[in-house]
Amino acid sequence: MSLLELDGLTVRYGGLAALSEARLRVERGSLVGLIGPNGAGKTTMIDCLAGFTPATSGRVIFDGHNVTSMPAHRRTRLGMIRTFQSLELFDDLSVRDNCRVAASDPRWWEPPADVVRPGRKAVDGALLDDTLASLGLTAFAGLYPPELSHGHRKLVGIARVLVRKPDLLLLDEPAAGLDSVESQALGRQLRARVDGGASILLIDHDMELVLGICDRVYVLDFGRVIAEGTPDEIRANPAVVAAYLGADAEPDVGMPPESVVPSVPSIGGATA
Ligand SMILES: Nc1ncnc2c1ncn2[C@@H]1O[C@H](COP(=O)(O)OP(=O)(O)OP(=O)(O)O)[C@@H](O)[C@H]1O
Ligand SMILES: [Mg+2]
Repeated sequence: MSLLELDGLTVRYGGLAALSEARLRVERGSLVGLIGPNGAGKTTMIDCLAGFTPATSGRVIFDGHNVTSMPAHRRTRLGMIRTFQSLELFDDLSVRDNCRVAASDPRWWEPPADVVRPGRKAVDGALLDDTLASLGLTAFAGLYPPELSHGHRKLVGIARVLVRKPDLLLLDEPAAGLDSVESQALGRQLRARVDGGASILLIDHDMELVLGICDRVYVLDFGRVIAEGTPDEIRANPAVVAAYLGADAEPDVGMPPESVVPSVPSIGGATA
């Protein structure tokens, strides 16, 4: 059985089907990518998987549990943890304390209790140190988010979820705002964690990142899964080229350099 299975998942916002009959699998110990144009429904899928928005129909099975109607906090306790596309850190806590608060209690969005009574639940200090080091954040551990670059703040957001040792990590555009060196370093870290047994569903527009590190990739367009396959299969899929990879005229979709998509026959032609 897959760690995560979603079948026939549909999410409607009023008259808009943001997600239509979507099917996706994440096997244990695998890194799965989810790509697609702006507005394709990627964040909606994570919102629905994590319990932040209800499914109109379909089902979500996580670790053998039908979680389709389960509240978000219970899914979190089962080990499914998400990041948000828009970054939210506690500006008045240091980088280290941002991570400690996140790791110390599943209800980390209730910071006062954790700040007033720090340490009421043990935080794995070694894991915290290792996580900060792995993301190149050790030197910033005592700084506060407003003192950091956008890229470093994004990495703190990722550190905060990693210290919670999720069974399934749902990452919504973790590389947005990172420069290419930071993005590559992040990719190596994510891959290393998956090779160590973690499971990740990764949304990003950085094709070099997604196609470079994922085991399998799903492509969404207008709420529908239009392709699934290995990175090589995705690069060569005409429907994907037409819907997404061909849209290189849009700077915000993070079109990779041509060397990354060698089998794409005609970049840009499909949307001209
Ligand atoms: N809360 C909401 N209420 C109504 N419509 C919404 C809501 N959230 C998203 N949508 C719409 O659902 C569609 C899918 O949006 P979603 O944010 O999932 O796309 P996305 O693939 O994550 O895009 P991006 O790459 O820009 O982050 C869009 O048309 C969006 O406007
Ligand atoms: Mg999104």
